[in-house]
Amino acid sequence: MLRTPILIVNCKAYPQGIGIHAVEIASACDKVRQELGVEIAIAVQAPDIYRIVEKFPKLPVLAQHVDPYPMGSYTGWLVAEAVKAAGAIGTLLNHSEHRLPLDTLDAAIQRCRKAGLLTVVCADTPDTARDIAKLSPDMIAIEPPELIGTGIPVSKAKPEVVKNGVTAVQQINSNIPVLCGAGITRGDDVSAALQLGARGVLVASGVVKAKDVLAAVRDLAVPLKEI
Ligand code: G3P
Repeated sequence: MLRTPILIVNCKAYPQGIGIHAVEIASACDKVRQELGVEIAIAVQAPDIYRIVEKFPKLPVLAQHVDPYPMGSYTGWLVAEAVKAAGAIGTLLNHSEHRLPLDTLDAAIQRCRKAGLLTVVCADTPDTARDIAKLSPDMIAIEPPELIGTGIPVSKAKPEVVKNGVTAVQQINSNIPVLCGAGITRGDDVSAALQLGARGVLVASGVVKAKDVLAAVRDLAVPLKEI
């Protein structure tokens, strides 16, 4: 299980977030996780899962996507059991950059549950978050696509999206923690998100493209300790 509050670092497919660079980012996450005693997870490209799990066995590692198929004749599809066997504890699903129709998303969540993988499902709006809550994922992350990668934090630029997202999900299932993401680069942005009721944040460019990755992770993680 993942504890909250949580920082999830998504390496996406950035050149600075692949292969050996993913290992370096994982190292920073693992160091700060231990130093501050807070929950930090990393979402990496599937080929990077195993080597990161081998090096940092206590760092929760997520895939960035899982396909909704069972094991068998499914060449090239990423099945939940393979992700689990590589050592990941869960996966992102329905990221803005990898959207799924609701029925496909439902199937993927169910496949992950059967394989013992946690699901962190992204939603672009509070209404989508409400629909997704009905599928009972383990966490929902609200991310307005227009702010992704801009450095303009959702928690300050669109606080109503975070607040309404939290309310929408709670109305359906108050056990599902809601995270937020898009444009979050500083500890201040994380504090603002937590004050709006988010139970954590999903961050990519603020860490992956940072000059000093360790300092960036530390800055983002400190507010998790304060609540
Ligand atoms: O998955 C996190 C992401 O979409 C947010 O990206 O670069 O705005 O932190 P970024």
